[in-house]
Amino acid sequence: MTVQPNSIEARDAAYHLHPYTNARKMEAEGSLILEEGEGIYVTDNTGKRYIEGLSGLWSVAVGFGEQRLVDAATEQLKKLPYYHTFAQKSHTPSVELAEKLIDMAPVPMSKVFFTNSGSEANDTVVKLIWYRANAMGQPEKKKIISRIKGYHGVTVASASLTGLPYNHMSFDLPLPGILHTGCPHYGGFAQDGESEAQFVARLAQELDDMIQAEGPDTIAAFIGEPVMGAGGVIVPPAGYWEAIQAVLKKYDILLIADEVICGFGRTGKMFGCETMGIEPDVMVLSKQLSSSYMPISAVLVNDRVYQPVADESDRIGVLGHGYTGSGHPVGAAVALENIKIIEERDLVGNAARLEALFLDCLNALTGNPLVKEMRGIGLIGALELHQQGDAVGVAGGAMSAACMERGLIVRNLGDTVALCPPLIITEAQMNEMFDIYAEALNSLSF
Ligand SMILES: Cc1ncc(COP(=O)(O)O)c(C=O)c1O
Repeated sequence: MTVQPNSIEARDAAYHLHPYTNARKMEAEGSLILEEGEGIYVTDNTGKRYIEGLSGLWSVAVGFGEQRLVDAATEQLKKLPYYHTFAQKSHTPSVELAEKLIDMAPVPMSKVFFTNSGSEANDTVVKLIWYRANAMGQPEKKKIISRIKGYHGVTVASASLTGLPYNHMSFDLPLPGILHTGCPHYGGFAQDGESEAQFVARLAQELDDMIQAEGPDTIAAFIGEPVMGAGGVIVPPAGYWEAIQAVLKKYDILLIADEVICGFGRTGKMFGCETMGIEPDVMVLSKQLSSSYMPISAVLVNDRVYQPVADESDRIGVLGHGYTGSGHPVGAAVALENIKIIEERDLVGNAARLEALFLDCLNALTGNPLVKEMRGIGLIGALELHQQGDAVGVAGGAMSAACMERGLIVRNLGDTVALCPPLIITEAQMNEMFDIYAEALNSLSF
C-alpha cells in the first residue's frame, strides 16, 4: 500500500497510535479504512467489499447495519443519553438487562456488574475475588490460575490473566499471584504417544500439582474461556472441563468462565458453558452481548461471590469500584435489542445448523500441504498452517493478506488463520466465504 500525502491513511498514521499494530509498519504502510457495513460485508474507502470473516473482533453477531440496533440506540439517546449507576441510582435499560442476563444464565447467578470491555470486566472479577477473600477472612486466598494461551484482555490485571507472551513483554507483567497452567491444545502440547484421555489426565494432574505446590489455601479462582479464541481457536478435548472442575471442587476454588467470545451462540449453544458442561461461579460477557455496536460488558456472579462482597461493602460503607459507563443506558438498550434479535431469529440455532457445513469446509482444506491442523466448533474455527522457517506468523500473515486481496477479512494468530463469521451468515454466504478462503490458501507458495 502506498500512502498518499494528506490522505485519510496518511492522517491516520500521523496522529493515531493503533492497538495491536506494529507502529513503524503502520507509519510506512498506513491502514485499511473501512467506511460501511451491511450484513456480513464491510466496504473500504475505495469501494472494495469484504466478507467480515471474523465478525470484526469475534463480535458482530447480528451483522453490520442492523437498523433495530440503530433505532434502540437512537431512542435511548433521545430519552436518557446517559446516567450512571453509582450510589443507588439506576435506569430501566440497565435493570432490564441485568434481569435478562440472570434469567438467561445457564446456572443460577445472583447479580450482574456492568463494565465497558472484556478487559475491564476481567479486572473487575480479579478485584471482586480479592475483596471477597478479605471479606471471608482469607487474605492469603487470592491467587488466580489462568492458562497458557488464554486470552482475557489487556488492562493490568486482565493482561496478567492472559497467557500470551506479547501481552506481558515490556509491560512488566504478569502481576504476582497470577499463575498459568497448561493449555488444552492436544495437537500442540500432547507428548509423544499420549492419547487425548491421557493428555486431559495430565493437565488435570498438573493443575492439582500447581495447587499443592502453591498451597490450596492460597488459590482463590481459576479462569478459562470455554473455547479459547485469541490464543488460536483451541477446542479442549472431551473430558477436559470435567477433569478440571473436579480438581477445583476438591480445593474449593471458584471457577470463572470467560464467555467474551463464546457467549450468545458462538459455539452452537447460547453459552460456551453449556457446550462444554461448565458450571461457573462467575461469567464474563461482552462482544456478542451488544454485537459490539456499543461497548458494554457484564460480570455475572453467583451467591457464593455476591454475599461476601455485599457484606464487605456494608462493613466498609461502599463497594469502592465502578466505572462512569457501568450499565450505560445506550449500551444496555442496544444489548437488550441485540439479544432479542438473537432469540427471535434463532441465531444460536443457525450457528448449530451451519456448524457441520462450516467444519466440513475447513476440513476439506486439510489436504493442502501447508495445513498443519484444523480446529473448530459451532461457527468459530481455524486452520493452523505450518510455520515457515524460524519466523512465526509468516505463513499466517501471507494467508491473511491473500484473503484480504480477494475480499475476505480473517485474522491470523501467528500461523493460525481464524474464521468466526457473523451468526446471521447463510449457507450460500458460507460457501462464498470458503471459496475465497480456499483460493487464498491455494495461492500460497513457500
Ligand atoms: C475471551 C476474551 N476475554 C476478554 C477479552 C478482552 O476484551 P476487550 O478487548 O473488550 O477488552 C477478549 C477480547 O478479545 C476475549 O476474547
